[in-house]
Amino acid sequence: MVQLNENYLKLPGSYLFSTIGKKVAAYSAAHPDAKVIRLGIGDVTQPLVPAIISALHEAVEEMGHAETFHGYAPDLGYAFLRETIAEKDYQARGCEISADEIFISDGAKSDCGNIQEIFSADARIAVCDPVYPVYVDSNVMAGRTGEYDEKTQTWSNVIYMPCTAENGFVPQLPEKTPDLIYLCVPNNPTGTALTREQLAVWVDYANSVGAVILYDAAYEAYIAQEDVPHSIYEIPGARTCAIEFRSFSKNAGFTGVRLGFTVVPKDLKRGGAAAHSLWARRHGTKFNGAPYIVQKAAMVVYSEEGKAQLKEQVAYYMRNAKVIYDGLGEAGYEVYGGINAPYIWLRVPEGMTSWDFFDYLLQKAHVVGTPGSGFGPSGEGYFRLTAFGNYENTVEAIERIKNL
Ligand code: MLT
Repeated sequence: MVQLNENYLKLPGSYLFSTIGKKVAAYSAAHPDAKVIRLGIGDVTQPLVPAIISALHEAVEEMGHAETFHGYAPDLGYAFLRETIAEKDYQARGCEISADEIFISDGAKSDCGNIQEIFSADARIAVCDPVYPVYVDSNVMAGRTGEYDEKTQTWSNVIYMPCTAENGFVPQLPEKTPDLIYLCVPNNPTGTALTREQLAVWVDYANSVGAVILYDAAYEAYIAQEDVPHSIYEIPGARTCAIEFRSFSKNAGFTGVRLGFTVVPKDLKRGGAAAHSLWARRHGTKFNGAPYIVQKAAMVVYSEEGKAQLKEQVAYYMRNAKVIYDGLGEAGYEVYGGINAPYIWLRVPEGMTSWDFFDYLLQKAHVVGTPGSGFGPSGEGYFRLTAFGNYENTVEAIERIKNL
């Protein structure tokens, strides 16, 4: 009899945000009058901007006529979008990236989860701790685990690099040498970022030990400070050691539309093979291309009209971030992030765990956040609030927290 993949049995019972969703649903069912404000999952709340809506309408119209109808999209993405991304997101910033190094997909989460497939089964991974759960979970599914330590809730084959207030949320080079290094800048969940100089240390390190950096830049649109890089390819040497993931979810509100892309430079080779060829092979085999309609709508991100409208949307969320950051600060909390990212990371009150604080906020203020420990052991004692709510709810949530 066939057995199920036992690696899946090593995972926590459900994905972090599903667990939170279930808890909140149970609480709301038991307290139907509670007006619960959700600042947990980082999902956008503002409607698609008018320029995107009209691009979607136009593309839908095209699909209704035989002459302009589109069937399967090219599996690596339409040339119009790949060329625009290469030019506007990369070449305009001085990064040497060409259109055929860009792979369009249905979102950064899929790519971050799938990328491990092109690396060896025994690759040792290093992650920042706390970390977006997808990086570790997708490697656990692939069996890159070793032994589980109940006490620290870590895997022996995974190198956890603590990022806490004590080290300014900057990961230190690990003692054991990793093969794959996941970096998320600006960071989810801490909302902090690395400077160009700090990132250069990692690029040099990866090149010197032969490791590959898997660089998640999903929150790039929120960068406000000059010294924070928008792409890892701004750093010399990154073409030989880094793969970058980008998303349209947070810069264009596509969480429900779905689109992202991954950059795999042709210079990234290990053992004589090019990661670019392997990812192209994987993409071509397992993915049938992102919808034409959605790729057309994404072009708006690079138009003058679209840029102006989206800049306002990002500013809207960052105004929320400021409300949360300042309000919690006034209430006496130790607060981080929220400058280059739409996440605020706070230290929970003395004597409480992250989950205690989750229950406390839900019960006393009817506000939902995300417990830091859900992102890794070093997240214990911290808590994440997202700036993606609507403004009025965000203000109300912070008032409620202040009044506790
Ligand atoms: C989060 O809340 O961390 C985000 O929603 C994650 C994601 O973009 O998948």
